[in-house]
Amino acid sequence: MAVRQPRTPARNGLTGRTDCDPGEAREFLEMYYAENPGAESNLAERWEKVQAEILAGGTYELTDAELTYGCRAAWRHSVRCVGRLRWQGMVVRDARHIRTAAEVYEQLVEHIDTGTNGGRIRSMITVFPADTAAGPLVRIWNEQAIRYAGWTSPDGVTGDPRYVGFTQLAESMGWRPQRHGRFEPLPLVIETATEDPQLFTLPAESILEVPISHPEYPWFADLGLRWHALPLITCMRMRLGGMNFPVAFNGFYLQDEIASRNLSDADRYNQVPIVAAGMGLDTSTNRSLWRERAVIELNRAVLHSFDGAGVTIADHHAEAENFMRFVEREERAGRCPHADWSWINPVPVPAQVPTFHRYYDTTEVNPNFYLDPDAAKRASGEPVDVLRHRHRRRRALRRLVRTARAAVS
Ligand code: ARG
Repeated sequence: MAVRQPRTPARNGLTGRTDCDPGEAREFLEMYYAENPGAESNLAERWEKVQAEILAGGTYELTDAELTYGCRAAWRHSVRCVGRLRWQGMVVRDARHIRTAAEVYEQLVEHIDTGTNGGRIRSMITVFPADTAAGPLVRIWNEQAIRYAGWTSPDGVTGDPRYVGFTQLAESMGWRPQRHGRFEPLPLVIETATEDPQLFTLPAESILEVPISHPEYPWFADLGLRWHALPLITCMRMRLGGMNFPVAFNGFYLQDEIASRNLSDADRYNQVPIVAAGMGLDTSTNRSLWRERAVIELNRAVLHSFDGAGVTIADHHAEAENFMRFVEREERAGRCPHADWSWINPVPVPAQVPTFHRYYDTTEVNPNFYLDPDAAKRASGEPVDVLRHRHRRRRALRRLVRTARAAVS
């Protein structure tokens, strides 16, 4: 069967500052009705209504069923994700009615608790209100909801060097952590259209973590390494139906992400030389392959520890096989399985998995998730000129909210 090519290559993901792009709305509805034959309405009727809504108010509201399908399709289209076989199982939480930072925080805590599910991780997304023409109504500044702080000192960095900037930002806003530990969860920074950015501390009991030990090396546990169970991304926006939605979403970890990158990268926790020393490897020559051997043992330790703690974690062999099944299913459905080879292949010994031995179409079709450049700036702790733009933007948003209220009352 011929593989259908996408008709909507994303225009660099997040388009302009409009409420809604009617052309994309139409394309999404066509996709929705083509893939959901049992849907409650039909394309012609629904399109009439949507057009009228856009004409009257500049935008429209997705039905619950459209939102659920749209979020799942956004996951299906995420070229960097190797775990997409499960795209239809994503749990969708609708938080489009939320307006205040305290409510966003509550939603995130609920998401963390139900997504973590005591260790049996559920793939889940929470969708906040779509951006308006005047700007976003909700902004979460963190890159992920659960991340560790980092502090520079004369002997290097304590904690995660990636978040030194964000830690400074949080401290400048009044965050006072109990200690400067290596694995100190950062607070959330949440901004809304009508409120300045605010700090929120997650309840300790919501943060499930796994201490890392090794199946054979007793000394490994003494390294004091740990990692959080839930990778809850909060810095991407979902492009769906012609609108941009701030979202928070999680899957479960692949051991590779924690072991080969977060704990191993020289500009993250940089544990490779320490593990190699523990193993007694010859680090005087690259030809002993001490780096590779240490990284492999870190991978084993992470798998062993998550398994022992009963926390869902994938390994790259199972995920690669699942991914090949996803590719097959997409092709059978007449769709092109888009993927970015450099992201879906594992770090340890990549040619050992089937995903390595072919290339993929890298087009990003909508619905999809995109890194919001403004959010990336905020997540890095880069000073954002919030104050300068704030007043102008807030005035415009207040006006908009007033008009919207008048329209519904
Ligand atoms: N690589 C990121 C991290 O180490 C997580 C990205 C999403 N991963 C996932 N398995 N859903 O935290």
